[in-house]
Amino acid sequence: MSIAVLEQERLFEIRMKHSSYLFGINEQGTVQHLYWGNPVEARECAGQLALRSHSSFDPDLNRNMEEYGGWGGSNYTEPCLKVRFADGVRDLKLRYEGYEIIGDHHLVLRLRDAHYPLRVEISYKPAGEYDVLERYVTVYNEGEDSVRIDQVMAAAWSLPGLPAYRLTHVTGRWAGEYQLRTQPLTEGKKVLESRQGFTGPHANPWFAIDNGKADETSGNVWFGALAWSGNWKMVLEKSAFGQLRIVGGINDFDSAFTLEAGESYTSPAFIGGFVSGGFGAMSRNLHRYQSQTILPGSRIRKVLYNSWEATEFAVKVEDQKALARVAAGLGVERFVVDDGWFGARSSDRAGLGDWTVNPEKFPGGLEELIEEVNGLGMDFGLWVEPESVNPDSDLYRQHPDWVYQFPTREGTLLRNQLLLNLGKPEVKAFVLDFMTRLLDTYDISFIKWDMNRTVTEPGNIPLQAHEGESVWVRHVEHLYEIWAELRHRFPEVEFETCAGGGARIDLGIMRFADQVWISDNTDARDRLTIQEGFSYAYSPSVMMCWVTESPHGMNGRSLPLSFRFHSAMLGGLGIGANIGRWTAEERSEAGQYVELYKEIRHVISEGSLYRLASFEEGDLASYQYISRDQQEIVVFAFQQAQYFGSGVTRICLQGLQPDAVYAVAGGAGTADTPWHGSNLMNIGLPLTLRGDYASQLIQLKRQA
Ligand code: GLA
Repeated sequence: MSIAVLEQERLFEIRMKHSSYLFGINEQGTVQHLYWGNPVEARECAGQLALRSHSSFDPDLNRNMEEYGGWGGSNYTEPCLKVRFADGVRDLKLRYEGYEIIGDHHLVLRLRDAHYPLRVEISYKPAGEYDVLERYVTVYNEGEDSVRIDQVMAAAWSLPGLPAYRLTHVTGRWAGEYQLRTQPLTEGKKVLESRQGFTGPHANPWFAIDNGKADETSGNVWFGALAWSGNWKMVLEKSAFGQLRIVGGINDFDSAFTLEAGESYTSPAFIGGFVSGGFGAMSRNLHRYQSQTILPGSRIRKVLYNSWEATEFAVKVEDQKALARVAAGLGVERFVVDDGWFGARSSDRAGLGDWTVNPEKFPGGLEELIEEVNGLGMDFGLWVEPESVNPDSDLYRQHPDWVYQFPTREGTLLRNQLLLNLGKPEVKAFVLDFMTRLLDTYDISFIKWDMNRTVTEPGNIPLQAHEGESVWVRHVEHLYEIWAELRHRFPEVEFETCAGGGARIDLGIMRFADQVWISDNTDARDRLTIQEGFSYAYSPSVMMCWVTESPHGMNGRSLPLSFRFHSAMLGGLGIGANIGRWTAEERSEAGQYVELYKEIRHVISEGSLYRLASFEEGDLASYQYISRDQQEIVVFAFQQAQYFGSGVTRICLQGLQPDAVYAVAGGAGTADTPWHGSNLMNIGLPLTLRGDYASQLIQLKRQA
């Protein structure tokens, strides 16, 4: 991997393991994108910097391909930067000034406006091993006057000309997140965004583009993801000349802010990547990139029990202790008490904001439960929702001015709660203080941090005032600062990000979160679709999945315990059922699954995922994991419905060594003689699925 500068040709080449990224400085002094894809010879591309025009309506086609184009002159594409100078001028002419290479992996390009003392630094940080490039910008106001920033994006990605562009992305809703969608992109804009104050369940800041023909195992795929947990925007814009550009960053909606003299602003990172091996290779690169460069702490997830679905708000120390005893018997390693342990929280109508242990529910204090849990050999975890408050709470009665509101409006209540303005220093201090007190006082090893509503009425900005930083942005920055500080103060504590399910998962929050809660929908079949969509962008090592009741409370579907466990073993295994009601047989069966999971979890958490078959295409879904040392393989197969005479009998594996020999290590009734990788990949591993909602877990070990 290297960053090369061809001074004479004015070309820059970022060479990653299997890809090249090229741009150069053209005769206007703007930074023009040239190429991104399979490795090429950079030197031969200098000719592409020549001015290209079409007509007076399209005088400079290179502007469509600027690495970081401001709004100004004849640039009508989605701008990366749009500003208003103090004299009222709203035209940017960003010109190349120079570059710097910091260490081996950080290229900084310096741009400056042709007239005003506004400087932009574009950062490129290749993670070449994964063919991923991280980009962000810093904008400096070096003048005496303030500058209003209307829009500042993290990066623009330009794709090579393809005969067709197909977008893959995810959409969703509460309890139905990460639904995969594809669509052709024609001329014009497709906008993916959140304006809800957090990442959101309706869209997620990740995209993939191909020519419409890539599949799981082949084809060129360009992809990207934003590291931001607030309002975000990605604009995919295909020009009339067939070029595709993807501009992304913090959403400019209601977010203008002022850079005072001497101030600077750094955008979040927007990563982009390229693979030639289809969507499977894309996901594996993203997973490894996340594991190696983004995520904190260990990849191995403890098996947890969470009592939310069992007891909801009716938390009582005796009941929790009883559940803890059953959980320990199943082999659970972490016992988590969810909502309902604090203040006057007997429903979602009251108590949120009052983070003291409810004395009626815990007459002997929380210590009594923690001691029991620890005595059973498990560690203890707790749910919090620090950003929210019920109007019926002591916190709100004391500080009604701490919530987001417009003074002349009634605040919108969502789940009977309002949202604290985390941007206020005193609110940030309150959250940091109570979390510190909680973690100092009790032996807590795990925090599930929830956020159960969107941002509304985000506070007024007086007409003539300098806006300062956008309230939307400040909320997220303070959230990150709190998480960073808590991780620093309590390095042993693990954190989970949750927002009414999977509404706050992105590369930004993942820098601080050990694990993520991807959906409140815990039905094991619905979950397979959600988990599969999630796996396109994010690593299974962080994906928490619970085994819950059958029939399921949300959709009434009955599923065997085996199917529920197999579905939940695809990520971090948890149990969320009312295990107090499970029969001795169910407990014994569950105990065996927990034991098996502990045996294979390193393959799931640290290995590589191959999506072999999907319910999107038929009645079989199958997922394969290969351990990091390539010695162990775990295959899961799920059958939705059995039709007489048409059951699936074999599944072709992927990613094995063709001449290596593999033997089945578990799962009766499958291939009992060792097989070459070539046979397993081409003839297929025999399956023994029978009946509706049948499932199977097969372990293989490499022999030679
Ligand atoms: C959200 C979470 C759930 C649970 C409840 C508690 O919906 O996603 O897992 O914690 O809140 O109120």
